[in-house]
Formats: sequence, C-alpha cells, structure tokens
Amino acid sequence: MTTDYITESVVRIEDVIKDFEGNGSDVPFRALDHVSFEIQRGEMVAIMGPSGSGKSTMMNIIGLLDVPTSGRYWLDGEDVSNLDRKQQAHVRNDKLGFVFQNFNLLPRLSALKNVELPLVYGRISAAERTERARAALTAVGLESKLNNRPNELSGGQKQRVAIARALVGNPSMLLADEPTGALDTRTGSEVLELFRELNHEQGITLVVITHDAEVGRQMDRVIGLRDGQLADNILESYYGVALEPSITKVPEMVEIARD
Ligand SMILES: Nc1ncnc2c1ncn2[C@@H]1O[C@H](COP(=O)(O)OP(=O)(O)OP(=O)(O)O)[C@@H](O)[C@H]1O
Ligand SMILES: [Mg+2]
Repeated sequence: MTTDYITESVVRIEDVIKDFEGNGSDVPFRALDHVSFEIQRGEMVAIMGPSGSGKSTMMNIIGLLDVPTSGRYWLDGEDVSNLDRKQQAHVRNDKLGFVFQNFNLLPRLSALKNVELPLVYGRISAAERTERARAALTAVGLESKLNNRPNELSGGQKQRVAIARALVGNPSMLLADEPTGALDTRTGSEVLELFRELNHEQGITLVVITHDAEVGRQMDRVIGLRDGQLADNILESYYGVALEPSITKVPEMVEIARD
C-alpha cells in the first residue's frame, strides 16, 4: 500500500463547454469554451472578468442550476455532470448555499422566517427550524433583528439575512453572485469581513462573482474569465490591480491511502 497526498477538491470542472441555442442565429453561442479548474475545500475564490465573459454561466453550472453542454463536473468528489433536475435540486439543498446581489428575501416574512425557509422542505421539526434560523442569524450578528421584515433592515443587514439563509442548511460551499454589488463600499466591506469570519471559523468554501477588484484582491485566488475562456492574471490585465503574493494560499494537504 502506498500513501498519496492530494488536495481535497470541492469543485472539479473539467473541459466544460456551454453553448446557448436560440440567440437568433443558427450557430449556438459558446459562453464557456473548454474551461477546467478546481476549488479546494476552505478556499475563498473570486470569479472575475468583463461583462459577458461567462461568470454567471459558470456559477449556474457550479450551483447545479444549469448543466454543461459537454465536459465534467465533480462536486465533493461526486460526478454531478449529468444529474436530472430533481437530483440537482437534492444535491443543491444538501451542499450549496446561494447569496444574490439583490438579496432575494421575501418582503412579507420576518428575518427569522426568511432564514427558516430553506429548511421547510426537509424533515426538520418547526421548533428545530426556528432554533437553527436563530443560530444562523446570531452567527451573522443579527440576533436583535429576528422579527424585523426586510424593509425594516439596512442593505447590509438584508445581505446578512440572505447569508444566514444560505448558511442554515450547513452547506459545504457558499456561492455568491455580486454579493456586494448593491451595497456601499463600507457595508460591502462588512459583508466581506463576515465571509472571511465564516471561512476562518467554519472552514466554509466561498465562491464569489465580483466586479470589485478590492473584493477580488482579498480572496485566496481569482479565477479569470474572458470570452468564455480562462484568463490568467485578470486582476492585473483587466482591472489593473496587482495581487499581493502574500495572500496566495497553498491548499491544505489531505492524506489518503491507496492500494
Ligand atoms: N440563456 C442564454 N441564451 C443565449 N445566450 C446567453 C444565455 N445566457 C447567457 N448568454 C450569453 O453568454 C455570455 C455570458 O453570459 P454571462 O451571464 O455568463 O456573463 P457574465 O460574465 O455573468 O456577465 P455580467 O458581468 O454582465 O453579469 C453572454 O454573451 C450572454 O449573452
Ligand atoms: Mg453575471
């Protein structure tokens, strides 16, 4: 028996192509063009690139909201390239949490009820749902706003409710599309600080789409896209920002035994 040291990938994307039909042309539009990368457990990664470069398309595939035209996707070591909608939904509920630019909270429900929502479809008692939603809101510093509705909260607080909702199902990965896009700089930094805390304290893997070079600079790594292809050093080449070498993190090694 030999012992191999490998990194533990949460996401492994291999040679993914995404073509969109029906854009008024006979030729499908290639939004992702032979993309391959991995994301390690506990990494904080930004996906960056010009508008239309394929970021949301990539996020939808990682988030099991869409399927690649070809190529493979492994999530937590499981091949999820060809799941049907029902299987996708199951894995999504089990492993992923989503945060969106415009929060997507239900206006008539309190913060607590909004956070309970993802648990309603599972086999969890009402009392436990409330307890877990309360704990998630406490984790994001909103224990004093449990009964407030979204319109009674600031932008940053709304985003923190959305983050609590994404966390309440104990996901292995948090996916965020422009989470600070609707927030002012200072509130955006607070949300970012919260992500960093969750990453350090709970080891949660974070993937954010952002146009904000400052957000990108604070991640462990930036995956750059340009015209549907991976682009090296996008922070410098497109956003004109140099990445400090000190924040490039080496993934933790995991020991596995092999025959
Ligand atoms: N359903 C679709 N049908 C046809 N084309 C699509 C579809 N969805 C996306 N596209 C095209 O694929 C390309 C990538 O779109 P995507 O939404 O991934 O870009 P993005 O990088 O997220 O851009 P932005 O920064 O503006 O959000 C774009 O040219 C877009 O027009
Ligand atoms: Mg987008």
